[in-house]
Amino acid sequence: MIRAVIAGTGGYLPARSLTNDELAAEFNLDTSDAWISERTGIRRRHMAAPGESTADMATAACRAALAQAGAEASEVDAIILATATPDSAFPSTATRVQEKLGVTRGFSFDISAACTGFIYAVGVADSMIRAGNCRNVLVVGAEAFTRILDWTDRGTCVLFGDGAGAVLLRAEDAGCAPNPRGILSTHLHSDGRHGDILQVEGGLVRMAGREVFRHAVSKLASAVDEALAANGLAKSDVQWLVPHQANLRIIDAMGRKLGLPPERVVVTVDRHANTSAASIPLALAEAVRDGRIKAGDMVLMEAIGGGLTWGAALARF
Ligand code: UT7
Repeated sequence: MIRAVIAGTGGYLPARSLTNDELAAEFNLDTSDAWISERTGIRRRHMAAPGESTADMATAACRAALAQAGAEASEVDAIILATATPDSAFPSTATRVQEKLGVTRGFSFDISAACTGFIYAVGVADSMIRAGNCRNVLVVGAEAFTRILDWTDRGTCVLFGDGAGAVLLRAEDAGCAPNPRGILSTHLHSDGRHGDILQVEGGLVRMAGREVFRHAVSKLASAVDEALAANGLAKSDVQWLVPHQANLRIIDAMGRKLGLPPERVVVTVDRHANTSAASIPLALAEAVRDGRIKAGDMVLMEAIGGGLTWGAALARF
């Protein structure tokens, strides 16, 4: 049986990082470090430099993932890139990354599923690998989210940051192994009836935060249950939760639901804020690089975002 194994992970964060106080001062916001950190867990975020593109950040993350996998760019069959902040409608950001990496074969395309984009991209890549369409796929989440924020709306502009994360998914024949490595399953959902509670309108993000929060807690919980049931697993089989990083209160609620101690939940929202499609691969890359996530560990990922879109993915490292 062919499985998509996570062969490498990589992340990139822009050099500039602003604390809540620095952000408030720079954009003249009527807010406070206390309000932001108590409601969300966010303490700082990175901001792309002028001229630093989504493709630039994505390329850096891809290079790190390839290096960790010991793979060359020439081996890449496909690049699937999730973003809500593409550098242009076309060429896609994925094809810009393809060019920057010097990849001249295969195919590349963007996925639009807002903060759930990485889970969607993993789902598509996993299906294509299992179907035998490609062997080495770079799956990327990359965002220059601070470019679509309304700096007069304190309810949204304090919540987001920029960055990119990537994984190299590689086809591996698991044979009849009892506990094969790789993506076990993905579970993708959307419901366009709730599109207006989190959307880009006139080029800027608009969010009814409380409404989104309410959907997040119930929809993420059901996606987690679905992922466990599909694999015949119990909560106690999960070693790591790598959630979308929007709000520490939502992250904590999912950790409690799984019965995981806080040290088994990977948290970056304090330092990265919400980097939308980049948040899960950035968190994964950090936890793999610092040795927390190890070979054989069962990792559960989940996200919700504009659309509404939501979903979960289970992987054994
Ligand atoms: O990544 C996609 C998924 N996104 C999410 O999961 C986000 C989900 N939502 C949330 O995380 C929370 O709803 C927020 C953090 C966005 C907001 O927290 P909240 O507890 O729902 O606050 P609220 O929007 O209901 O606002 C409460 C108060 C309001 O004042 P009044 O009307 O009670 O006087 C706001 O005007 O807080 C005020 N407020 C602020 N005050 C200081 C809103 N933003 C700020 C701010 N600083 N930055």
